Formats: sequence, C-alpha cells, structure tokens
Amino acid sequence: MEQTSTATLTEKKHLWWQNGVVYQIYPRSFQDSNGDGIGDLKGIISRLDYLQWLGADCVWLSPIYPSPMADFGYDISDYRGIHPLFGNMDDFDELLHEVHSRGMKLLLDLVPNHTSDQHPWFLESKSSRHNPKRDWYIWQDARPDGSLPNNWLSVFGGHAWEWDDQTGQYYYHAFLKEQPDLNWRNPEVQQAMLDVMRFWLEKGVDGFRVDVMWHMIKDEQLRDNPPAPDSKFDASDLIYNHYSPVYSTDQPEVHEIVRMMRNLTDQYDERVIIGEIYLPIPKLVTYYGHDNKGAHLPFNFQLLTLPWESAAIASAIDQYEGALPAEGWPNWVLSNHDQPRIASRVGRSQAKVAAMMLLTLRGTPTIYYGDEIGMRDVAIPMEEVIDPQGLNMPELNVSRDPARTPMQWNDDIYAGFSMHKPWLRLPYNSARVNVEVQQENPYSMLNYYRKLIALRKEHTALNVGSYRPVYADDQLISYIREYGNARYLIILNLSHRPGYFRPKKDFFKGQILLSTEIERVGMNVEGVITLGGDEALLIKID
Ligand code: GLC
Repeated sequence: MEQTSTATLTEKKHLWWQNGVVYQIYPRSFQDSNGDGIGDLKGIISRLDYLQWLGADCVWLSPIYPSPMADFGYDISDYRGIHPLFGNMDDFDELLHEVHSRGMKLLLDLVPNHTSDQHPWFLESKSSRHNPKRDWYIWQDARPDGSLPNNWLSVFGGHAWEWDDQTGQYYYHAFLKEQPDLNWRNPEVQQAMLDVMRFWLEKGVDGFRVDVMWHMIKDEQLRDNPPAPDSKFDASDLIYNHYSPVYSTDQPEVHEIVRMMRNLTDQYDERVIIGEIYLPIPKLVTYYGHDNKGAHLPFNFQLLTLPWESAAIASAIDQYEGALPAEGWPNWVLSNHDQPRIASRVGRSQAKVAAMMLLTLRGTPTIYYGDEIGMRDVAIPMEEVIDPQGLNMPELNVSRDPARTPMQWNDDIYAGFSMHKPWLRLPYNSARVNVEVQQENPYSMLNYYRKLIALRKEHTALNVGSYRPVYADDQLISYIREYGNARYLIILNLSHRPGYFRPKKDFFKGQILLSTEIERVGMNVEGVITLGGDEALLIKID
C-alpha cells in the first residue's frame, strides 16, 4: 500500500505546542515533598531538572485545585485555588516560574463540564428552585409517572440522575453524583468559566487541557439515548457503553463554547487548548472548529483505543492524516491517567516500538509520566482499590488505580517518591525499574526515550516534516518523514517475529539512527531491510 504525500510541507515557523513534547504529570503520584504519601507541587519543582534532562517541553498537570477528591481532583470545589495537599498559591507561582525559567511551558487541567457537589455554585443551586444559580446546573422534574427524566447513564455506572429531596427535582451528572454537570447553555455559566480561564491565563499558564470537552452540551430536549449498535443490550443493565450517547454528548452547540474558549486564549500570546475527546476521527476533527478556531489540539486517542495490530493502526494513521483540516495540527497519545499504561496494554516487548511511533509520527506527542521508564499497571489488591470507577463497577475490572501509582525514582523503600507509605502501592520491582537505575544503563527504556526526544529536536523532519506511508504488510508499519532534502524512514515491527521491509517501488539506502537493538545504531542498510521481532528502526535516508 503506497501513497503519495498526505501532508503539505510548510516552511512557516511552528509554535511550541506543535514542535514540543508534552509530559503529563498526575500530581498525586509524581513526587511527595512533605512525607504524607501524596505528591505535591514542591515535589514537582524538585523534579523539573529531570524533565528538562529528558527533553520535555511542556508539563500538563492533572487537577491541583481544592476538591473533596471524590474523583481525585476532577471534582473541583474552587477553580481558583490550590488543594492544601498539593501546596498553596505561592508554591504554584514558584512552580510556574521554575518551569518558565527552564524554557518549558505549563498547562493546567480545566474541568468545565462539572463541579464538585461541594462547590458554592452547586450548594446555592441546590438550596432552592428559586435560587439565581438554580439554572447553572441541569435540574429536571421526574416524568409524570415518577420515573427518571430520561435513560441517560453515568460513565461511572448507574443512572445519571440524582434525586434531590429538598427541592423535589433530579440533577444530571455524567460522572459521579458528587460531580453535577453545569448547564453550559446558561450565559452566566459561560462567563464564570471564562473568568476562571482568564484568572490562570493572567498568571501566565500556557494553556489548558480541557476535561471531557465533548460532554459539555447536552441535547436541549434531553431525548433518550439509543442502544449501541453492537452491544448485547439489555434495558435492565446500567452499563454506559451499552448505549450510544448521541444525545448526552457531542452536540453541535459545543463548538460555540469551544470557540469562546479559543477566543479568550487568542487574546494572549501562544496559549493552547487541548481537548479531551473520545470520538471517532470524523467527529474528533470537527473540534478543530470552523477556520481552525476551535481547540488547537483535540486529543487523538487512537493509539490507546485501537487493537495493537499493524494494519488497523497504519490505516488509522492515514485516516487521521486525511481527515485533518488543512491547518489542523495532529497529536498522539499512548497512555493517560484513565487508561492502562502502554507497557501493560501492548506488553514490555512492544513498548519501545510504541515509543518510536509516538515520537516519530507527525504531530505533538504526549508522554504519560512513568511510561519513559516502562512503568506497568500495578496490581492493586481488591481491598486497596480507591478509584470510584473501579469501586462502582467491580465486576468490570476497570479501576484506574493501576495506572496512577507513584513514580519510581530510585531503589529507596518507597522508590524515592515519598518518605512515607504512598497513597497507592508501588510494584514489587521498583528497586529494579526506576529512573536512577535506568539513567545508568545505555540500553534502558529511559535512555531510549531520551534519545528519541533528542533526535526529534535535532532533525526538523522528524519534528515538523511531512508524513508519507510507504509500505505496510501484516507485521510492519513504515513511513517517511521529510523536510527539505532530509528524509527519514521509520519501520516498526508490531509483531514478535522477525520481518522484512520490502518496499514495492522505492529503494531505500541509509544509516540507522536509532533501533530498539542499540547495537544496530550507526549501521548502513539498503534494499530489503530485516527487522527482529519487536524491533523499531529509525533510518536517515542517504
Ligand atoms: C476525564 C478525566 C477523568 C475523570 C473524568 C470526570 O475523563 O480524565 O479522570 O474521571 O473526566 O471528570
């Protein structure tokens, strides 16, 4: 399968969020500085040199705001503060300063779809049907027969409507009942959240990762969602995935909201909006907005949702490249705090192949903390599960705790993360799998990641060059990145068996810049190229 160029070569200057590498920190788990077993801002500050050494350009922090922690910070009770667990505003200002003084950027997590049920807005809204903030949330009467307003379910299991005895109505919550959804059709809500954004932008944050962007507006008539086409649907079960959320998410009006957010950030220099959106590609790309005035980067989650098969992934890459609007900038993600880690999903042996894919595809890569040392999901005994998604649906084994465990820094008792027992356990092998050990080992995952990032920075083509698929058989994905006269060939073996790269028309000759088998670096190759099982090659074409 050979194609001609799918991406145009642009000579114009690229912005930091186009050529940089984003690194996601889950603050509870990065570095504890005060011995309470939970990571904090001072801890993050103490690890910035590491991030700089690694080559990260931008740090995205999962929520650090005051929160009852029903959903570990994604239930916010004050959008303008810092949770005491993480520190205070002085610590934040220091963090921002330290990030900027290293030439890096800082993104915050903005959670505009819902607040905590302890947020003063909700407490007011809930206090009476006549409260001025009543309409800030989505309140509904029961149906005449006393039943729920519609059949919408919560992503975290059960019904999405919670009855309030005091005022005799239901409120809607797409996630926990402790996370009531805001009514984004209300202009006061819009203004209040834009004010929150302004507050942080004025402080100098470089942008936001916007939580569940595609949920923000719901069908005005609140119509029932239909069953999902291929689910074993049974009306009595309360499983979110058994319905198509066509009325509760991805409504056309959401784009007006995204545009408002964009208009605001456009008043500042080079700020960025990344949208968390789990949708198929044709819908996902609509979040770039008309005239590209929507989200700068609607998160592209294909690499963490597709089966790890070369044909499926190769075609998804092309589909994505083909669907992007002319000025839309691509991006790629392998893991995040809601999904299994890449090394658990595809296995240790494929994790390096995945890393090369992430860091050589066209577009902004986001690295999830710990993936760079090959951290795997940690087995959490049943009685230690604390993620509400896991607790609410124990039979589905969907707890997100395993992917949120403390960063493994060294061979100390708590892996250098804390002096005290951490909030989630460490794996048994943290004395072996950690940053310090891997920094010393030239064959480690960490040094491989660092090298990939360095090569990306050194060779413009790998960073902002065009992308062209050249060949894919059952086992391999391969493509060319090109900029000016410089061309690079990337060949990824997604299987454990050796394979041959046999281009149909082209003849390639070049030198290996990086391989999962470090011993091959510097060797020349030409014609039919042989790959080992689980091998990935980055070749500079002569
Ligand atoms: C997003 C977050 C997830 C959270 C949910 C509800 O999907 O990434 O962690 O639980 O929103 O806020």
